[in-house]
Amino acid sequence: MRRLLPDTSTEVDLRAAYAVDADRHVRVNFASSADGAVTVDGRSRGLSSEADRELFHLLRAMTDVVLVGAGTVRGENYGGARETGGKTPPIAVVSRSLDLDPASRLFTDTQVPPIVVTCADAPAERRKALDSLADVIVAGTDSVDVEMAIDQLADRGLKHVLCEGGPHLFGWLAAAKVLDELDLSLAPLIAGGRAGRIIAGLESQLADPLQLVHVLEDEGHLFLRYSTT
Ligand SMILES: NC(=O)c1ccc[n+]([C@@H]2O[C@H](COP(=O)([O-])OP(=O)(O)OC[C@H]3O[C@@H](n4cnc5c(N)ncnc54)[C@H](OP(=O)(O)O)[C@@H]3O)[C@@H](O)[C@H]2O)c1
Repeated sequence: MRRLLPDTSTEVDLRAAYAVDADRHVRVNFASSADGAVTVDGRSRGLSSEADRELFHLLRAMTDVVLVGAGTVRGENYGGARETGGKTPPIAVVSRSLDLDPASRLFTDTQVPPIVVTCADAPAERRKALDSLADVIVAGTDSVDVEMAIDQLADRGLKHVLCEGGPHLFGWLAAAKVLDELDLSLAPLIAGGRAGRIIAGLESQLADPLQLVHVLEDEGHLFLRYSTT
């Protein structure tokens, strides 16, 4: 791994490069191809690399909670929380439908119970089935109010949030303006096909500016850290 911006260096302290000063912080981490695809063959794996995986684990080790949309949990057969770098941040999955299999790895292969973030209109029977398996947070009525959800996580002491996608959840976070940071891994690949972008579900244009904090590089993969302020 080397740094290209704001200065050049072949010795990068990744933990220092991604350190956060603020008491509360919402960071989103995505991988994309050079042509903006968020998946290859329906998964993010084809966009990853050894350095990307190292960063993925480091960001988990630096957070209080991992926030992820139910589409990603279902599509990527998400595993539960594992100890990384001395911490075991719980996985908080956002879902309205609560179409989450209690026998899936999220609930069975985990060191700490997951958090389910849902809304008041979620199916009551499904909610009951998950009550004993997860800490259930209700935020919003017919969809999850992500700002309220993040406040409720903070009330539990989970003030540093790492969102690992997917595109629809990112759309909600961006629209609610709760984002502090976007970490984007850009893979040296033209994906083509019908893959979506890292953001989805937004009717309106945002055109929100980002400040480039650094650019790192490893084997052609670029690691861009952006701040919203
Ligand atoms: N390249 C990458 O870095 C990366 C990262 C993550 C995911 N992905 C890819 O993205 C794809 C999944 O895309 P996606 O957009 O469907 O994923 P997603 O954003 O993880 O999931 C969308 C689902 O999350 C729930 N959800 C999110 N925000 C909500 C809100 N505010 N209120 C209520 N429900 C909310 C809903 O679940 P319910 O349907 O249960 O109500 C919604 O259908 C997968 O193919 C995955 O591989 C790629």
